[in-house]
Amino acid sequence: EDNVYKYYSDGVWKKSSSGKSVAIINPTTRKTQYKVQACTQEEVNKVMESSKIAQKAWAKTPLWKRAEMLHKAAAILKENKAPIAECLVKEIAKPAKDAVTEVVRSGDLVSYCGEEGVRILGEGKFLTSDSFPGNERSKYCLVSKIPLGVVLAIPPFNYPVNLAVSKIAPALIAGNSLVLKPPTQGAVAALHMIHCFHLAGFPKGLISCVTGKGSEIGDFLTMHPGVNCISFTGGDTGIAISKKAGMVPLQMELGGKDACIVLEDADLDLVAANIIKGGFSYSGQRCTAVKVVLVMESVADSLVEKVNAKVSKLTVGPPEENCDITPVVSESSSNFIEGLVMDAKQKGATFCQEYKREGNLIWPLLLDHVKPEMRIAWEEPFGPVLPVIRINSVEQGIHHCNASNFGLQGCVFTRDINKAILIGDAMETGTVQINSAPARGPDHFPFQGLKDSGIGSQGITNSITMMTKIKSTVINLP
Ligand code: G3P
Repeated sequence: EDNVYKYYSDGVWKKSSSGKSVAIINPTTRKTQYKVQACTQEEVNKVMESSKIAQKAWAKTPLWKRAEMLHKAAAILKENKAPIAECLVKEIAKPAKDAVTEVVRSGDLVSYCGEEGVRILGEGKFLTSDSFPGNERSKYCLVSKIPLGVVLAIPPFNYPVNLAVSKIAPALIAGNSLVLKPPTQGAVAALHMIHCFHLAGFPKGLISCVTGKGSEIGDFLTMHPGVNCISFTGGDTGIAISKKAGMVPLQMELGGKDACIVLEDADLDLVAANIIKGGFSYSGQRCTAVKVVLVMESVADSLVEKVNAKVSKLTVGPPEENCDITPVVSESSSNFIEGLVMDAKQKGATFCQEYKREGNLIWPLLLDHVKPEMRIAWEEPFGPVLPVIRINSVEQGIHHCNASNFGLQGCVFTRDINKAILIGDAMETGTVQINSAPARGPDHFPFQGLKDSGIGSQGITNSITMMTKIKSTVINLP
C-alpha cells in the first residue's frame, strides 16, 4: 500500500517487508486516519545492529558538536510545529492549541538538553587514595560519565512527541544511540518529529523509529540483547517490561492517582481553578491529572459548587475547534471510563452533572460523596471524570493518598505553609505541589513516582545522568 507511513532505519525511510500495516483510528471520527508499517522482528534486529555501530562513532563525536546538532533539531522541530500538531489533533484528539504547545515545549526540551549536557557531562571528578585508611597518596582516580549504548524509548499516546524527545535528547547528548517505538495513536506525529532529527543531519543509524503491533515486536524489543537501557512511560505494561527486561537500567513512569487534599483554610477559588486545570485538561488523560479530590467536609459544599460552576463552562467537542473536553483516545478507553462511572452510580455516588457520552466523547463529570468501596476511589479513569471524597480530618486524606498503589504526585491546598510542608512530607508521592495542581513541568524539574508509579527519576538533568554509566581511570604512582 502506498499510503502507509514508512519507518526509519539506518537513516532511510523504509517499507516493512511484512507487507502489513497498523491502522490509526481518529478518536473523533472513529475512522482510520493514517496507517503505519507493521515492522517485523527481522527489521528490529537490523535496527539494533546499525544502532550499535552508529553509537560507537557518536560517542567519539565532541560533546559540543552533539549539542549543536540538538539545537539544530530543536529549531527544525519548532519550525514544523503546525504539521506535527495537526497529526496530534487527528491521532489523539489533543485540542489544537495544546498540540502546538506540545511541539514547542518539545523543541525547548531538546535545546535545554544540549545546554545541560555540555555542562554536566563536561565535568567529572577527581579522587585521591589517601582519604581511605591504610593508603598513601599514590592513586589518583579520574571519574567520568560514559554512554550506556543503545537506549530504547517507549512513550505513551498522551504525549507522543514530548515524551519521546524527553527520552531521545538526553540519550543523544550523553552519547547513546536511540531506538524509538512510538505509541500506535501518535505514531505519525512521532515519525514527523523523527524527520526533524533526520533533517538536522544526525549520522545514519543513530536514531531509528520502528512502528508496529506491540504483540509482535513489543516484547522482542524490550527483551532484545542489543538494548542497553529502557525508558518507558505508560501504564501497567511497564510492570510487565520490568519483569522481562534484562540487566539494563530502567526508567519508568507508570501513571498515578494524584490526590488533591483541600484544607478548611484553603483559597477555594484557587482550588477550583486548579481542579479544573488539573482534572480536566486534555480530558484527564495525563498521568499527573488530579484524580481524586479529598476535601474537608466543612468546605466541601462550597468547593463542589465552585467546581461545578466551572465545569458547566467547559466546552465539549472536537479537538479542531479547541474544545476543552475532546474525545478520549479509544473506544476501549471510553468503555473503561464508563465502567468506573456505572460502578460509582450503583454504589451511590452523587452525580453533579448528567453522565453523557457520544462515541468516544465523554462530558466532564464530577462525582461527589465517593466512598472507598467504589472503584473510582482507587483506579485512574484517564478521562474527564473526577471523584470527590469528603474527609473529616487531614489524617484521613493522607491515609487515602498513601493507601493507593500509585505514588506519582499529589497536591495540598492551605494558607498555612507549615501544615502544607508537614502534609507534603507525609504524602508518599514522588512530588508534592503546594497550592497548585500536579504537573511534570517545567521539564528540568525532577519527575518521579513511588510504588507502582515508576522506577528512577526523570527531568532533563536526571535523564541525562541516568543514561550514562560511571567510568573510573586510576593512575597508580610509583
Ligand atoms: O501523562 C504524562 C505525564 O508525564 C504528564 O505530564 O506535563 O501533563 O504534567 P504533564
